[in-house]
Amino acid sequence: MTSKPIDDFVPAWIREIDAYRPGRPIEEVERELGIRAIKLASNENPLGPSPLALEAISKSLPALHLYPNGGLDLRRVLAEKFDLTIENVIAGSGSEGIMSNIIRTFLCDEDEVLTTEAAFIGFQVLARSRGVKYRTVPYRDWHYDLPALASHINDRTKIIYLANPNNPTGTIFSKHEFDEFYKHVPERVLIILDEAYFEYAKDNPRYPDSMHYRYDNVITLRTFSKIYGLAGVRIGYGFAHEDLIKNLLKVKLPFEPSTLAQAAGIAALADKEFLHRSLELNARGLQLFTRSFRELGVTVVPSEANFVMLALASAEQAAQLTRELLVQGIIVRPLGSFGLPNCIRVSTGTGEDNQRCVEAMSKLAALVS
Ligand SMILES: Cc1ncc(COP(=O)(O)O)c(C=O)c1O
Repeated sequence: MTSKPIDDFVPAWIREIDAYRPGRPIEEVERELGIRAIKLASNENPLGPSPLALEAISKSLPALHLYPNGGLDLRRVLAEKFDLTIENVIAGSGSEGIMSNIIRTFLCDEDEVLTTEAAFIGFQVLARSRGVKYRTVPYRDWHYDLPALASHINDRTKIIYLANPNNPTGTIFSKHEFDEFYKHVPERVLIILDEAYFEYAKDNPRYPDSMHYRYDNVITLRTFSKIYGLAGVRIGYGFAHEDLIKNLLKVKLPFEPSTLAQAAGIAALADKEFLHRSLELNARGLQLFTRSFRELGVTVVPSEANFVMLALASAEQAAQLTRELLVQGIIVRPLGSFGLPNCIRVSTGTGEDNQRCVEAMSKLAALVS
């Protein structure tokens, strides 16, 4: 070993980042507590993976000795589905994989990133790891404050990140709000519209489908991790102007997404029955959670995604609630790492899991009221 401290190799902005901590694995909690646990912490699909995707993965196994083709097949299918050219589409290892490419491709040292406070943690970590200035604007009633964001754009702003629906609040901004906001965004600023929860919100008439915003400076990101139940295979996609995609493709790892991921994504897109079942189950879960938690006196933010955010009276109360739910085998997501220490996020589960969660919460009524 040399005497040089390892920290000297690490830029200050990397040292300052708190590593991403995923929701606790079920097996770990079950081993620790000796009871069956349910995980409502990571906005996964409780029905499991799309069956058609599983079938496609099996079929693609014999070709695993060959390198993948960089997502070409999925890009072709998506281009056709959305009436675009293949040059407007990128596929990657989850939408976070593409986010990472956007940051590496377009951000220079002096550039700034602008978004809301407590934005999706994955984006926070990626942007901060680039070492550029990361600026935020507070929520207004748990929604993006788009007028305030517009007023914070300066000469150095290069990327604005908007998740719609937003994680962790579950709220959306409307088409009208986005149109107003867009008028104030200079063409030199890139807007990332992260639509990881698009499918859950798309039937709400207030929701702006960003496929209708094919502006030169807007990149839409979507994923197969949520409604299609494919978080473990890592597959996501993006739409943008061909010149943006062309440059992203220079930076993207040439062999992502994997062969299995691409096959799963293509098949999942055709799995209408699974999509429908997933949406129905989620709508019932959202209704049950919102009503039951409110009856206990908890502030539940109205959600358009597959989770609800609960705003508790204090960070201590949120921490205690998370602990007490865990004792009963319910794993939820405390939001301290996002920047909201008095909040927790609960993903919808199967009907049975949701019921168990509500019962567990009822036993903690004294704690939350
Ligand atoms: C807003 C948002 N964007 C992106 C992602 C990550 O998606 P992927 O699994 O495609 O990387 C998530 C996952 O939680 C998310 O909540």
